[in-house]
Amino acid sequence: MLYFLDTADVEAIRRAIEFYPISGVTTNPTIIAQRGKNVVDTIKEIRACIGDDRMLHVQTLGETSEDMVREANILRDAVKGNFYAKIPVNEQGIKTIQILKKDGFNVTATAIFTQQQALIAGVAGADFVAPYVNRLDNISSSGIKVVEDIVSLIKNYSLNTKVLAASFKNVEQVHQVSLAGAHSVTLNPELCANLLYHPLTQESIIDFILDGYNYYNL
Ligand code: E4P
Repeated sequence: MLYFLDTADVEAIRRAIEFYPISGVTTNPTIIAQRGKNVVDTIKEIRACIGDDRMLHVQTLGETSEDMVREANILRDAVKGNFYAKIPVNEQGIKTIQILKKDGFNVTATAIFTQQQALIAGVAGADFVAPYVNRLDNISSSGIKVVEDIVSLIKNYSLNTKVLAASFKNVEQVHQVSLAGAHSVTLNPELCANLLYHPLTQESIIDFILDGYNYYNL
């Protein structure tokens, strides 16, 4: 399992990478807008915080393949290091994924809501495919089932694509996609902390400290 942070909040990223085994950061235009700064300034801040080795996934905004390719080059040049261009899975996006792969880019296909969107993106060469679990659950569909099927399709066709399950609102969704075999998840920092939290763990740690206090003169 690879854990990503789905945020552009640099202070929250700094805190999370101090404690958690984080493989990278994912952003989208909405997340960038929440930071309230130009995309290039924001992703440079994130890169400075996470270093060159961790993955940084940044989405393009253009509506044509030409614009997506142009923007991907600008974004990659701005942050260098381990960079992934996030491309949405409409026709222009699938064309873009194939062009970017030929140009040597790492690519994450995003805004995935169906199994077949993920399969086409994988066949086009996407390194990661990002199904939106909670947005599917919100319309009475099943985000977990979609992730489970995508994992099977990747195995059936021996694709070198990983599932980057996205859009979570609770721990149970993350747990279910883990059972379904998702290779990675991207989480907001609060949810990341919730994966670890349990009141009985807190209580047990306090009891151990009180019990051992007089016997651990290390
Ligand atoms: C990641 O690729 C997505 O942009 C993100 O997880 C969407 O999350 P949301 O549904 O909470 O906006």
